[in-house]
Amino acid sequence: MKHRIKIKVPATTANLGPGFDCLGAALSLYNEFEVKVLPTVGKKINVFVEGIDADYIPKDEKNHFYHAMKKIFQKVGTTIPSLEISIKNNIPLQRGLGSSATAYVAGVVAGNILCGEPLSEYELINIAAELEGHPDNVVPCMFGGLCVTTLVDGEVKFVKLNPPKDLAVLIIIPEEKIATEKARKVLPEKVSFVDAVKNVSNVSLLVAVIVSKKYEFLKFATVDFLHQPYRKKLMPWIDNVFNTCLENKALCCMLSGSGSAIIALYKKTQLEEDFKEKIWMRLRKFVNCKVEILFFVNQGVIVKT
Ligand code: HSE
Repeated sequence: MKHRIKIKVPATTANLGPGFDCLGAALSLYNEFEVKVLPTVGKKINVFVEGIDADYIPKDEKNHFYHAMKKIFQKVGTTIPSLEISIKNNIPLQRGLGSSATAYVAGVVAGNILCGEPLSEYELINIAAELEGHPDNVVPCMFGGLCVTTLVDGEVKFVKLNPPKDLAVLIIIPEEKIATEKARKVLPEKVSFVDAVKNVSNVSLLVAVIVSKKYEFLKFATVDFLHQPYRKKLMPWIDNVFNTCLENKALCCMLSGSGSAIIALYKKTQLEEDFKEKIWMRLRKFVNCKVEILFFVNQGVIVKT
């Protein structure tokens, strides 16, 4: 049995506009987790966290990575040993970039390896999705690519597509955090039939656009009627940010997951060297933010040792 594991897992952007709770893609930004089994007898954990938002990550049993590992030990019927956990957190928390999904996915994978790999990937992704509450971040986080996900009688079903290699993803990361729980509370219980039809049309078009690379349709296909209109009130600067990106060559703009980050897609060839600096100067007039240029990635979990 392995006693030391290192795992790298990608950030994810969920929804991609109208794909609420069902579309998600892995991005080229990673959290790193290391776990060592300690010889100490009795339940004991030491958690060390460095990097972005490190102060906000629990260092006790409430730690998401530990919690997910513990779930696996419980499922297998083994007592969790004393552990030392080291986390390098590069994905900002509560910005809709899948930081909690990285901890759940890394936790179920690490727990399974420590237990001698009794569970299948399918069992692991179901446990991770249950911990997270929705599958659209954990699936691309585990498997990479752009994933279409659903729950059938509570079980995860998904299809992974190759992500567009010719697109760059501008991520606008506001200073302000927004918890998913809070962003889900502003959603309505019902939507109109007209909005539901518009959403079905757009999300279908979006998947077709990604597969066919007809990127000229992205601007229309990414318009959402289920969550963004309601979540706007939490981000009053959002229209200005969308307009600034669209006026500066973006193919489309969307809320990343439940926010507060925004993503804008560009053809890689459109981005000149100083683009990041230039767009940030324009965006910071509306929101206190950082910007990063990332790419879609086709690999999810990377187990290093
Ligand atoms: N689909 C989820 C939501 C993603 O929009 O609430 C959370 O990041």
